[in-house]
Amino acid sequence: MATLTIRNLDEAAKQALRERAAKNGRSMEEEMRSILAGLSGNATVPAPAQVYAPAPMMPMAARAAENQSLAGKRILLIISGGIAAYKSLDLIRRLRERGASVRPVMTAAAQQFVTLLAVGALAADHVYIDLFSREDEQDVGHVRLARESDLICVAPATADLMAKMAHGLAGDLASTVLLATNQPVLIAPAMNPAMWSHPATRRNTDVLSRDGIHMIGPMRGEMAESGEAGEGRMAEPLEIVAAIEALLDDTPKPLAGRKAIVTSGPTHEPIDPVRYIANRSSGKQGHAIAGALARLGADVTLVSGPVVIPDPAGVEVVRVESAREMLDAVTLALPADVAVMVAAVADWRVAAQSDEKIKKKQGEGPQPLHLTENPDILKTVGHHEQRPRLVVGFAAETADVIANAQGKLARKGADFIVANDVSPETGIMGGDRNRVRIVSGAGVEEWPDLSKDEVAKRLAVKIAERITDGD
Ligand code: CTP
Repeated sequence: MATLTIRNLDEAAKQALRERAAKNGRSMEEEMRSILAGLSGNATVPAPAQVYAPAPMMPMAARAAENQSLAGKRILLIISGGIAAYKSLDLIRRLRERGASVRPVMTAAAQQFVTLLAVGALAADHVYIDLFSREDEQDVGHVRLARESDLICVAPATADLMAKMAHGLAGDLASTVLLATNQPVLIAPAMNPAMWSHPATRRNTDVLSRDGIHMIGPMRGEMAESGEAGEGRMAEPLEIVAAIEALLDDTPKPLAGRKAIVTSGPTHEPIDPVRYIANRSSGKQGHAIAGALARLGADVTLVSGPVVIPDPAGVEVVRVESAREMLDAVTLALPADVAVMVAAVADWRVAAQSDEKIKKKQGEGPQPLHLTENPDILKTVGHHEQRPRLVVGFAAETADVIANAQGKLARKGADFIVANDVSPETGIMGGDRNRVRIVSGAGVEEWPDLSKDEVAKRLAVKIAERITDGD
């Protein structure tokens, strides 16, 4: 509303407002708001827009209370014109609930897909759209827009904007900001699969990666347009958030140069082509540990059974189904400095898997399944000739937690066992929280009830201490 009012002023009034704004160190828009606030008896003067305001508090329900991973970070979000722009609205929310402030820039084409009102309301900031806007240039200017952020994220990044970036074009606000910036840039491409695989886009992608532009996606899957599928889908908002977190992460890296192997999730042991034996493991704890080790600088190979959760950022993921495939992938990843075996590996598999679907036979009861024991991956690694310096196992128990964990510690050749009670009433299997005890030769350490992310963080720190101890 203030912008409309300014546009309608005559030149003399505009000049007076401009001088008054400059004197008070505010934009014209802010100066106008301050005058209006004074007239209405509400003398509160808004903070100058030149400075990214700390992210205003989100309603409690929308805040990820335990995860303020981007607190104080300023993200300039450039939205270019693709159908995936609707996901950028959610991206703004996810960034802000982690404590980031988001300043949006939209291309003309982006405004065909999402409205300025929606973007501005979710970001709680002015939306910058015009390179030649006198107000915006007076307010912050494109060079300050380009520099006064911790990171620029382009989501979605269209083929057109990527081409402009690759060739250094600067004909609109978004491309000018991208050319003028000295901050890290992350792009999340989104386009039709034919456009993504076109030689021109391939060339531009190479140029951008040589220029140090970071990229997430595109992913494979269905396009928003009718009936198209392939590579070109924009990464999901949480995957983009994870990539931003990884790029802005300035925590110490005590595990830099160390290699870690983590197993996670359940295994599926085939009975026939359509049936398998499985368990209720979600992979949440193992994936969180892989992510936490990577954040401390480790080079992590995550060997994961079938799960439906996203890959942690900065980790190489090897996907497997059965225990035998998991063992092969783990031994292939050796040597390593540390192995953390979190997977709920099926103890048994069917001795002879049927190549055909097993059929019911009239007059006969169910056929018995003959089971045979699976290899013990932790035990193999714990006694391997390339045994990692630190081997950590888990013990999922429903009774005699400590005694069972101590037995596993000795039997499997582990340095410590993270023991937890997975009785159904604890809600640990598949849930978001965990209560663990660390069982080692030194005794038993009790940890309080924590989120699985927090357990992962503390375990990674403990591993780093043990690994760097005596270096
Ligand atoms: N483990 C493994 N390979 C197996 C079985 C278990 O690597 N075939 C690992 C798990 O990843 C975990 C630890 O061994 O780190 C203990 O797993 P758990 O299921 O608690 O123990 P089991 O050895 O299967 O013993 P039990 O089921 O009799 O308690």
